[in-house]
Amino acid sequence: MSQSKEFVVKYSEFQSEGELSSSEVELVRRAKQVLTTSYSPYSHFRVGAAVLLENGEIISGSNQENGAYPSGLCAERVALFYAGAKYPKVPVVSIAIVASYMDEIVQTPISPCGACRQVMIEYRNIGAKPYSVIMVGQGKIVKVEDVRFLLPFSFSNVEDATK
Ligand code: THU
Repeated sequence: MSQSKEFVVKYSEFQSEGELSSSEVELVRRAKQVLTTSYSPYSHFRVGAAVLLENGEIISGSNQENGAYPSGLCAERVALFYAGAKYPKVPVVSIAIVASYMDEIVQTPISPCGACRQVMIEYRNIGAKPYSVIMVGQGKIVKVEDVRFLLPFSFSNVEDATK
């Protein structure tokens, strides 16, 4: 007999940073700060990501484009790969993501691309802990409590120990 199932995506919306915790405000500040390092001469779209690790370190990264377009990398993966290289296996607590165009932070928060979601999920499984994703726009902030909500049926060869 077939069974009908569904995924439930839990997230919160905030009007302003004042509604976030102080550690989240700091993480957002770091994501905004790293926008200046974006190398985006082709899209002129700057993205900053800041990753809070369980050891208290914050690792940030920005999008890095390339003349051979597909060779560039999104901010989320720059930050997560750097975190993984510097502090292997230290669980992620949270990632904040912010984007700007023409030096203005975008109104509606951007959400990570599919390839970044795949990478984000694997770091969740390596750390064996859910972590939150904070997507920041001028007009609103969206917070997803567990990165796994962003990619149902994701592939992973690293077992999800939280199940
Ligand atoms: N980009 C990111 O860095 N993160 C995202 O979540 C979406 C897109 C980058 C890729 C490219 O450098 C620029 O934004 C425009 O697509």
